[in-house]
Amino acid sequence: NVWNLIETLYKDQTLEKEELVFLLEHRDEETASCLGELARKEAQKIYGNKVFPRGLIEFTNYCKNNCYYCGIQASNRNISRYRLSQEQILSACQNGYDLGYRSFVLQGGEDPYFSDERMVPVVEAIHESFPDCAITLSLGERSLESYQKLHAAGGRRYLLRHEAISPRLYGKLHPEKMSLRHRIQCLYDLRTAGFQVGTGFMVGAPFQTLENLADDLLFIQKLHPQMTGIGPFVPHHDTRFRDFAAGTAELTIFLISILRLMDHHLLLPSTTALGTIDPSGREKGILAGANVVMPNLSPTDVRKDYALYDNKICTGEEAAECIGCLSQRVESIGYQLEFSQGNYRP
Ligand code: SAM
Ligand code: FES
Repeated sequence: NVWNLIETLYKDQTLEKEELVFLLEHRDEETASCLGELARKEAQKIYGNKVFPRGLIEFTNYCKNNCYYCGIQASNRNISRYRLSQEQILSACQNGYDLGYRSFVLQGGEDPYFSDERMVPVVEAIHESFPDCAITLSLGERSLESYQKLHAAGGRRYLLRHEAISPRLYGKLHPEKMSLRHRIQCLYDLRTAGFQVGTGFMVGAPFQTLENLADDLLFIQKLHPQMTGIGPFVPHHDTRFRDFAAGTAELTIFLISILRLMDHHLLLPSTTALGTIDPSGREKGILAGANVVMPNLSPTDVRKDYALYDNKICTGEEAAECIGCLSQRVESIGYQLEFSQGNYRP
């Protein structure tokens, strides 16, 4: 039964696929709170009651891809496109640095404008200006050589969600010319290039089954990344998935706990999407085993244009307000923000 499965998961740090499906199928408030407590304790053994903030800079919303779920996909003509200049990116970092951040994430659509010739100098400039900060990149699929150049420039971590390990589901979420095989190859290339790697998926994506989720969990276990980002799917009004329901906070949080119990060391964000569908979603995520938050450091005037989904929180706030808000939230549940690089602890 479910309780035996929880015990096995806790002891062995893994379950068979069928067992994961059974656990997900039979989850309820009681099992969720038990898993959450176990997960929280394991996270605390390694990371204490600390949550690592990473300042997120959304530096371009141009994208050549058409992921069916995503609000900034190439075919969306209803958003205004922007690219931040190197000066704007550096000034966002400076603003973050002054607020205490020592960890930055540069994220964007897959924007061909940011070739290696343009991207490498940006990463180098951040690395030189803020040598005591960790730089995470999230630029999508690139070549191994490109990853090697970005690593040499000072990038240390890279976030690339695999999105769905089932080829069938991946195919329902992406146009035909996007290849799951290539995306997975990129994750291994990133590791070859020397990056600490982060992957992940959306919870409650259209057509996703519990079996799909079990496969995703087992893929992550096999890949053994340093970071895993999961958040609920949230519909965007300009996409073909506009009428699909959002994923739930409840299932997202349950999966956070399972991920934590499968890998006690993981850097595991409580995502903005989770805070969007539930006002206390990020706090609940932390209490269920998450240990990272990624507040927005992008200039306020472009934030609403990086709308991956509808009703995204924090698009009107200044960076300083977000950090004040988040530290209050985190403290309200007995945690503290730790303004360090927030390194993985093996
Ligand atoms: N272009 C890079 C890439 O593809 O990895 C990074 C940017 S991409 C917008 C970042 C993540 O946003 C994706 O991995 C996806 O999981 C998530 N995302 C996109 N649309 C979403 C939606 N409607 N709801 C929730 N998450 C979404
Ligand atoms: Fe941005 Fe709360 S974290 S306003």
